[in-house]
Amino acid sequence: MKLELQDFYKLLVRPTVVISTISPGGISNAAPFSWNSPMATKPKPIFGFSSNVNHDTWRNIKENKEFVVNMVGEDFGPLMEIMEKDFPYEVSEIEECGLTEVKAIHIKPPRIQEAYGWLECKMTNYVSLSERNVWIIGEVLDAEVKDEAFDEVVDVAKVKPLNHIWGEAFVTDMKITRFKRA
Ligand SMILES: Cc1cc2nc3c(=O)[nH]c(=O)nc-3n(C[C@H](O)[C@H](O)[C@H](O)COP(=O)(O)O)c2cc1C
Repeated sequence: MKLELQDFYKLLVRPTVVISTISPGGISNAAPFSWNSPMATKPKPIFGFSSNVNHDTWRNIKENKEFVVNMVGEDFGPLMEIMEKDFPYEVSEIEECGLTEVKAIHIKPPRIQEAYGWLECKMTNYVSLSERNVWIIGEVLDAEVKDEAFDEVVDVAKVKPLNHIWGEAFVTDMKITRFKRA
């Protein structure tokens, strides 16, 4: 079947990450993003994601360039509804969700303790995709994972990553299968 062109992304399963930022006044912000990707490892590790230009996330990153990518499991699923609410700029979604802020090492925005891993990033560049969206590109300054969540690679059976397709359609229950590579 043919899809409406704007529905092309409904064919793609994408990891949901929660991006935390901080306002110039020191108020933290967090929002889920599934249009995200690692972009390079060498010579610099680079992560990118697409944000609506009206999101507080972009507003904060424009101010100070800093963001934390919190990698989350399906236990965050029920929080999506709260986290994506359009709270006033002065309200922290992290607090509203009852989550715990932890100081990051290199940057001001907090990590979220309940995530299973964290990337601390500093924006190096951005690409304006349209009047609606911007692709934000950040250098990864620190990458850390909870010990129990990692066994050579992320232990998906343990952390149960939260993946998203569209709307309320999320994907859970992943398993690692190994195929030979050339
Ligand atoms: C699972 C999920 C994935 C989302 N992915 C994106 C995304 O990749 N880009 C985007 O601009 N908004 C995305 N959103 C919407 C934002 O998270 C939402 O509008 C949020 O309120 C923005 O918060 P902010 O204004 O605090 O930055 C997503 C929402 C959900 C629930």
